[in-house]
Amino acid sequence: MKQTPMLQQYLELKAQHQDALMLYRLGDFYELFFEDAEAASPVLGIVLTKRKHNDEVTSPMCGIPHHAMASYVAKLLAAGFKVAVAEQVEDPAKAGGLVRREVIRVLTPGTVTEPEFLGDGERRWVVALLQRREAATLAYLEAASGEFGGATVTGEVEARELLAQLRPAELLLPADGGGIDGVWPADLPLPVVTRRPAGTFDEERGAELLCRALGVASLRAFALEAGEPLVGAAGALLAYLRDTQGEMPRHLRSFQRRAPSGEVVLDAATVRNLELLRDTSGGRRGSLARVLDQTVTAMGGMLLRDWLVRPLRDGRAAAARHEAVAALVDDPASLAALRERLRALGDLERAAARLGLLQARPAELTALRAALAALPELRAELEESPAELLAMLAREMDVLEDLRTVLEQALSAEPPALLAPGTIREGRDAELDEARRLARGAKEVLAELEARERQRSGIGNLRIRYNRVFGYAFEVSNSQLSRVPEDFVRRQTLASAERFVTPELEDLQRRISAAESRAEERERELYAELLEWCAACAQRLAGTARAVAGVDVLGAFAERARRASYVRPALVTGARIRMVGSRHPVVEELTREAFVPNDVELDAASRQIVVLTGPNMGGKSTYLRQVALAVVMARAGSFVPAEEAEIGEVDRVFTRVGAADDIARGESTFMVEMTEVAHILRNATGLSLVILDEVGRGTATFDGLSLAWAVVEALHDPPSGGGGPMVLFATHYHELTDLAQRLERVVNASVGVKEWRGSVLFLHRVVPGPSDRSYGIHVAKLAGVPQDVCHRAAAVLRQLERQELKVLEATAPQEGPRQMSLFPPGEEVVAARLRAAEVERLTPLDALNLLAELKRELDE
Ligand SMILES: Nc1ncnc2c1ncn2[C@@H]1O[C@H](COP(=O)(O)OP(=O)(O)OP(=O)(O)O)[C@@H](O)[C@H]1O
Ligand SMILES: [Mg+2]
Repeated sequence: MKQTPMLQQYLELKAQHQDALMLYRLGDFYELFFEDAEAASPVLGIVLTKRKHNDEVTSPMCGIPHHAMASYVAKLLAAGFKVAVAEQVEDPAKAGGLVRREVIRVLTPGTVTEPEFLGDGERRWVVALLQRREAATLAYLEAASGEFGGATVTGEVEARELLAQLRPAELLLPADGGGIDGVWPADLPLPVVTRRPAGTFDEERGAELLCRALGVASLRAFALEAGEPLVGAAGALLAYLRDTQGEMPRHLRSFQRRAPSGEVVLDAATVRNLELLRDTSGGRRGSLARVLDQTVTAMGGMLLRDWLVRPLRDGRAAAARHEAVAALVDDPASLAALRERLRALGDLERAAARLGLLQARPAELTALRAALAALPELRAELEESPAELLAMLAREMDVLEDLRTVLEQALSAEPPALLAPGTIREGRDAELDEARRLARGAKEVLAELEARERQRSGIGNLRIRYNRVFGYAFEVSNSQLSRVPEDFVRRQTLASAERFVTPELEDLQRRISAAESRAEERERELYAELLEWCAACAQRLAGTARAVAGVDVLGAFAERARRASYVRPALVTGARIRMVGSRHPVVEELTREAFVPNDVELDAASRQIVVLTGPNMGGKSTYLRQVALAVVMARAGSFVPAEEAEIGEVDRVFTRVGAADDIARGESTFMVEMTEVAHILRNATGLSLVILDEVGRGTATFDGLSLAWAVVEALHDPPSGGGGPMVLFATHYHELTDLAQRLERVVNASVGVKEWRGSVLFLHRVVPGPSDRSYGIHVAKLAGVPQDVCHRAAAVLRQLERQELKVLEATAPQEGPRQMSLFPPGEEVVAARLRAAEVERLTPLDALNLLAELKRELDE
């Protein structure tokens, strides 16, 4: 390809950033060329044009104005592209020939921190993933908050769970490694995958980078060992951040090794089924997070979501949160004041990140200055709190007196949003003040000169005008042109006027622009120094931000508890859950009718498994979920919607919930259902809580019922030995209510209905004992299924029930519990007759006859 200097420069830069779209600065535009232009133009909705580089090479081109860059880049990132920004790094006026350009930033979906690229409340994790034989190592980092951690997990299931929790925006994989097919959760949109040189995952280099970023000599404090893969993965993240931001991040405070034993494990299906973060339609409206989220800062909102998906197993830690919430609930006036203060602070977490990356703009520093001014009072107030946790969080807040002083001294009272003249305060720097004074002085002379020349020429409307290309000039309207003095030199002709200069004006012009550019340059230097100073404080600010976010979440829990009458749960030992007047936090919020509270009692030692039956629409699913939600909330530190609550120890919550909505995952619904059941049976322990809603519904009745039956048995007496989990099982299989008579720790409960003039009233009240019948046909009528169909269904039902009765009567003459129909009628009959046979009384001939009869029965 025939080259021009610019084309050559472009291709060289592009060669180093093959996987990113390159924005090449050209005057007031960023231009994309070649394939980049073709890829970007449909996303941006910008027409593709052509650029002729020389007489041989013409390429597609697509340009975006530099001042509107942010909104365009946001679109490209959202579409999954990375963007490399090639900036002019020398003054075009001073460059002889081609201006030097360098890629100063690579913006990627997982690493951006600019407020305009971040959606609200969404975390943006970039995850480095290493897969080696059995184990997967994940290191994760959120650039905007500086949160940094990781874990090595065994098995794909755990890796998938962790990924499902994080929902990474971007995934780093070694260039020579495998793909993500095995571990990526099927129901998450694919992330942007970035392949990095295998060497950047090296453990030794990783250790070096980590020590540098965290400012420590040894990694032992972070429970990391030299040579372990996690160090390599964490190092790969740091190297990536450095390469994309052009700076080593300085706001990372710590590396948190994830210790799964500290948390109640919620797998991906449970987070989804319980609608913790999103409701089943994928929105936020019906989620637990939305209902509980009364936080007043962005970082608080994110921390609240983290707490919800990672509840605490440690009772003392959770109780400390309850104590703090209780203290705030008891003092509504100071709760309101506290929330007001927090609201005014803004997002310190993001501020810390922007400082750490040396990217903070004057507007951000101004906001930070105001926030820092408000911190000491907040801290003093919290230190007085009777709640230990609040006082402790207060002590963790570094109020950064020094940073605040520097910001106050360096920034002017109301600086412009972006770096521009006037950002640095008068009196901060003698050299800057001097340059500004000169520029101002020269402008005063300019005004004098204007007055003088107006008088001399007698042109009443003579004005000095400024124009970026021509600089200062006298403007004379066409009607006055005859009066222009001899020594005026023409510079520019406009429609209705002409512009002139004089040697004196030109001289002034030179003085002004020299002084101004000196001031500007000095201001830039001073701002860079200020950013350096700020960066050194970034870690401390991140620590403060984390403590403030914690206070915000506790305040939010208190606010919600107060408004919605939640109660403080008692955290007790042992596997049991007892609640009086429990409600569903989301349904009670969204439903128009009054919510009917219900009691619950589960105890692994006596009431281990509750089989819940009752009509459609009765409230079974709601009841199941509200129990699980109470556990999650209590262990996350929140109060719970109930009159009384005792929540025992829980190591994991499992859910298996109605299948109809899983089609998008590309597996048949029944397959998904059984996969989840298998997962539960293999992993539930004596401390787990299992929610089963309609297991076995996705297949033929007998298959489904048999499976459900066997599953309950296995949960009651796990084949592996040891105690089984607490289970709430909602079902339409009436036959399952027989289990209560056969298995010691199974009890029945049902949701009550009342029949009234041929229609059903749903009471939504859970009562002991099995329900007597289904009301599917009534519900169908309610739903508007045509009358004829409902009548016909009722007739079919009566017939089926008669047949079942006949079989039972023929085969089970004796009194006793009704037998379940697990088997086809023939086998049922045979089994019953065998049971009834008194073998010791039979003669050999009777026995032979019986055998022949039974055989015949089966053959039919
Ligand atoms: N305790 C309650 N108080 C008031 N309304 C309730 C209560 N429980 C459930 N509801 C309402 O009843 C509706 C149906 O409840 P739910 O889905 O839990 O019934 P279900 O028994 O699981 O039905 P199905 O058998 O069809 O799955 C809910 O959408 C909710 O609006
Ligand atoms: Mg249901």
